Amino acid sequence: ASGCKIGPSILNSDLASLGAECLRMLDSGADYLHLDVMDGTVSSLKAETVSLAHLCILCRKSTMASLNYNWLDEWLYHKGGISKESLLPLPALWQTLSLLRHFVPNITFGHPVVESLRKQLGQDPFFDMHMMVSRPEQWVKPMAVAGANQYTFHLEATENPGALIKDIRENGMKVGLAIKPGTTVEYLAPWANQIDMALVMTVEPGFGGQKFMEDMMPKVHWLRTQFPSLDIEVDGGVGPDTIHKCAEAGANMIVSGSAIMRSEDPRSVINLLRNVCSE
Ligand code: DX5
Ligand code: ZN
Repeated sequence: ASGCKIGPSILNSDLASLGAECLRMLDSGADYLHLDVMDGTVSSLKAETVSLAHLCILCRKSTMASLNYNWLDEWLYHKGGISKESLLPLPALWQTLSLLRHFVPNITFGHPVVESLRKQLGQDPFFDMHMMVSRPEQWVKPMAVAGANQYTFHLEATENPGALIKDIRENGMKVGLAIKPGTTVEYLAPWANQIDMALVMTVEPGFGGQKFMEDMMPKVHWLRTQFPSLDIEVDGGVGPDTIHKCAEAGANMIVSGSAIMRSEDPRSVINLLRNVCSE
């Protein structure tokens, strides 16, 4: 793709010197900064999920069948081994679960840190907020006020993507929509005309330094074919060894964490990634 942009992920940088690390990336030619916000999974979630689900089965008669809990069913099925047939979720169950549930098993930083970064770095740098959090609705306004430019949320984390997209726009930010490796790209398609960027995760979200999942490339390719002018971002394990695949598939926004951070010469890595991608 022509005009590829490189956004270093600062997750694996020296977080005690976050401002300086961001400046170092910008001075090395970064086109934007990819800032990873994570909410930390509750470790006992699985057990609680299972018992709540059983409770729900006992109460199945009072189920409100009209509500769409499909993806919750899906999730319970995978996490708790509860079959869809035996599970008819209740609104109360849903509410309890969504309070318990966090998105990734790691924790990073929130909008106060973003606000400080904005003060230190000035108005120019573009902040792409990768919101690996449950209930992404709650941080839209705080992130906008703190100085975020783009709010990239996960399709898996919200019940109502349409309302969230609208809210992000009303708060003056661009909209990114992310999918985890296990999520089919077709789920993203209905929203593609309303968003600025699609993020195809190439690792399970949560940590930097993981292995690139090449089998995600068909998703990128499919999106590129269906939506030629959509910005498509890849994130996870992207570096000099894997950029060719991403470029070939049609990604044009390239997140790279450890490959840039661990290099002695970040400028040359950023240039290399951009050149290969723009070929
Ligand atoms: C993973 C994060 C990524 C990660 C990328 O959950 O969303 O942004 O920091 O780091 P690398 O490039 O090291 O995989
Ligand atoms: Zn990320």
